[in-house]
Amino acid sequence: MTSSSSSPVHKIEDYSPNLWSTSKVHLRFDLDPHLTVVRADYEVKLNGESIGPLFLNGENLEFLSLRLNGTIADPSEYEISELGLVVFHPPGANFHLTIENRICPSKNTSLEGLYKSGSMLCTQNEPEGFRKIVYSIDRPDNMMRFFVTISGDPNLFPVMLSNGNFITERNLPDGKKEVDWEDPFPKPTYLFALVAGELVETNDEFITKSAKKVTLKIFVEKGNENKVNFAFDSLKKAMKWDEDTFGLEYDLDLFMIVAVEDFNMGAMENKGLNLFNAKLVLADKKSATDETFESIMAVIGHEYFHNWTGNRVTLRNWFNLTLKEGLTVFRDQWFTEDMTDPDVKRIKDILFLKEHQFPEDQGPMSHPIVPKSYTEMNNFYTVTVYEKGAEVIRLVSEILGRENFKKGLIDYLTRYDGQGVTFEEFISSMERAFGKPIPLLSNWYHRSGTPKIQVKDHFDETTKEWVFTISDRDSDALPLIFVNSYAAFGSDGKILSEGKRIQEGKVDEIRLCGYGPSYAKPILSLFRGLSSPVSLESTMPIEEIQILAENEPDGVSRFFNFQNLIFSWMDDLIQNGKSERFSIIIDTLRSCFKKDWDKTYFSFFLSFPSLSQISEQLQCYDYLKLETYRKDAIKTISAQFSKEFQYLYEENRKTIPIQTKEEIGKRRLKNTSLYYLLHDPTSKFEGLAIAQQREAKHMSEEISALRYLIEIESKAKENVVTLFYDHWKHDALVLDSWFAAQVGFGENKSKILETLELHPKFNLKNPNKVRSLYFSYARNPLSFHDKTGIGYQIIAERIKRLNGINPQVAAGLAKLFSAASKQKGDLPNIAKRELEEIQNLPNLSKDLREVTEKIVNSL
Ligand code: TRP
Ligand code: ZN
Repeated sequence: MTSSSSSPVHKIEDYSPNLWSTSKVHLRFDLDPHLTVVRADYEVKLNGESIGPLFLNGENLEFLSLRLNGTIADPSEYEISELGLVVFHPPGANFHLTIENRICPSKNTSLEGLYKSGSMLCTQNEPEGFRKIVYSIDRPDNMMRFFVTISGDPNLFPVMLSNGNFITERNLPDGKKEVDWEDPFPKPTYLFALVAGELVETNDEFITKSAKKVTLKIFVEKGNENKVNFAFDSLKKAMKWDEDTFGLEYDLDLFMIVAVEDFNMGAMENKGLNLFNAKLVLADKKSATDETFESIMAVIGHEYFHNWTGNRVTLRNWFNLTLKEGLTVFRDQWFTEDMTDPDVKRIKDILFLKEHQFPEDQGPMSHPIVPKSYTEMNNFYTVTVYEKGAEVIRLVSEILGRENFKKGLIDYLTRYDGQGVTFEEFISSMERAFGKPIPLLSNWYHRSGTPKIQVKDHFDETTKEWVFTISDRDSDALPLIFVNSYAAFGSDGKILSEGKRIQEGKVDEIRLCGYGPSYAKPILSLFRGLSSPVSLESTMPIEEIQILAENEPDGVSRFFNFQNLIFSWMDDLIQNGKSERFSIIIDTLRSCFKKDWDKTYFSFFLSFPSLSQISEQLQCYDYLKLETYRKDAIKTISAQFSKEFQYLYEENRKTIPIQTKEEIGKRRLKNTSLYYLLHDPTSKFEGLAIAQQREAKHMSEEISALRYLIEIESKAKENVVTLFYDHWKHDALVLDSWFAAQVGFGENKSKILETLELHPKFNLKNPNKVRSLYFSYARNPLSFHDKTGIGYQIIAERIKRLNGINPQVAAGLAKLFSAASKQKGDLPNIAKRELEEIQNLPNLSKDLREVTEKIVNSL
């Protein structure tokens, strides 16, 4: 483990090109789970004017030897530290450097570098894992051609993979096998991958638009080979979509995916050899929910799209991470919009942004999409860099229009092919396609926080116009460019006018004619579809919101206006202890039951906002009170529309276990109806849920019934939990959801957490298990923010255990303490005490140091 004292802060203004680069490397691996020998043979060349010391990154490596131009270097010629190796006087502007070191994959629980997962060895190098494999210039602006030889025991490693093209394999006299791989495209170290193990290979193919055949392979551990069909279909759809939308074709003859059980995040775009968290590849109708299927398609798309946005054109430095991630998330969102339902997809993305990114941007971890500094880059794979980054790209596409945006992207990919660039190059391509500068756009990359937009109106007597003043409230912050898609409505719900305004800077004025004999004020729907990532401070009277919730033809805006109705009622209730506004919600819902909406859309409309959505929206952290109000509302809706929900349930009861829009919609609507029915005061519908779980043909049916029965504390709870376990104890991925369901909702889940972590299927070293148990608990506000502080104590204790195992995951868990400063009573103090104890750990990782420091400062 790297000790915290030696880890520097990296500042964006300190970036400078490296003095040296390595343009070519031959890597040799002698695989052994306990002691792998790695040798790198680099072609080194000088970038600068005059020769100076050469620094190679290296962490936790056992140095063996160093050769300069083939000659063993004398120990006086170099120095090894915790962070790497310096060659004091390199032998010329061009030379060969050969270095050899040893590593121990089986002891590498950080899951970064070369590590063991199940029976396989695999790598994770983004952002800075390669330095845990071999001494190297481990920075994204250093691009190399990779030639790779892997040698190992064919019984342990019948399959040995790396990036690019397979060249040859041979059997060695000592019984080992050796394979050669070569990647024709230069790439930075973070895109290097190696996988070796006893893997089952599954195959498919794709013919590109220029009639090239691409072989597709998915490698899985034995037993999972029939769970890959959906992933193959998703991959082929993604390949086709990138051709159809941007004209982008795949550039190698082989594309491989490996499913890995122990994985820190979702998936990784290594050139030609994507590595995936098993839960984002493996699926069949019995074990995967509709949400899982959709995530698989999105993430397969995302990683595939990185082949152009990320790999062919890569990053100059890690500050620009959003250049590949924001852009690629935008591309995968667009892909899913095209493959499913654009309104529903947009609703999901906005909900996610509001629930996760907005709070991150208000809390101690807030940062611009291009962070100004970092200690541990792993801490910056955030919803801000990814999701807000994608919103900024969406904004660009709104300014340019989608056709010009496509031109801009092609310009970017052609002009900067093979280079590591920054967001400025991206903007310049977009400006070329636009034909003029895009003012203030770059400020989106530097300003943190969600812009708060205020709307004021007055009537101009002389022109008989209503003047709406739209202003960015933070007058000190950098000025921005906004796209404001708007529509004006009359009180009859008819559209009077609509359009798209580009706001440059702090203020915009929309002038609209008053309508009718009295020049009535139009009702404005602003930032429709969240045309800019802002938070709108609405002071609209509830009757006007109702008009929008019932009449907005834009499905996304209609949905969010309905949510606003609910928030407006809840806010009134919190302020005054009572509210007359609920009947408006009921009226609006009543009108919805008569509409002929798409089933998935309708189910979203009917779903009552979650506790965390409500608390974030209203900035109210009295969770117990909010939950009481929320449950009362759900019960009232359940009673009011009992007939309708029963009807909907019956109508959608029988579904076919396939992934079509119709069947997915039916399952969702049926589950939403069931959820309301279960809140009927008589408990008479519990039998329905129990039967649904028993008879389920699709995981979406089975797990929802289980979750709801747990949430309502049904008498059958213990039984259904056991039943589910007995059914699925052989499937690790399904068990993740089983663990999560038991701690993810409701109060007092600490006992059950302590029981479950002793369960034989729980494993502290497996991030999926840690996420399903600890993260689910810590994202359950009723338990985590329990006023006694027990939630904080429990999670802090688990963070300490994880610190020595997996710093990246430990720091991710610690980030959830960001919400502590907003809590009442003693909670902020308790959080502070717990975090300070973590800071006193003798081997505190830099990951945790950076995160805890920021949060403690907010407490
Ligand atoms: N680049 C990956 C993506 O597609 C994310 C990533 C960064 C990652 N670090 C990782 C994935 C570590 C797995 C493990 O977004
Ligand atoms: Zn990505």
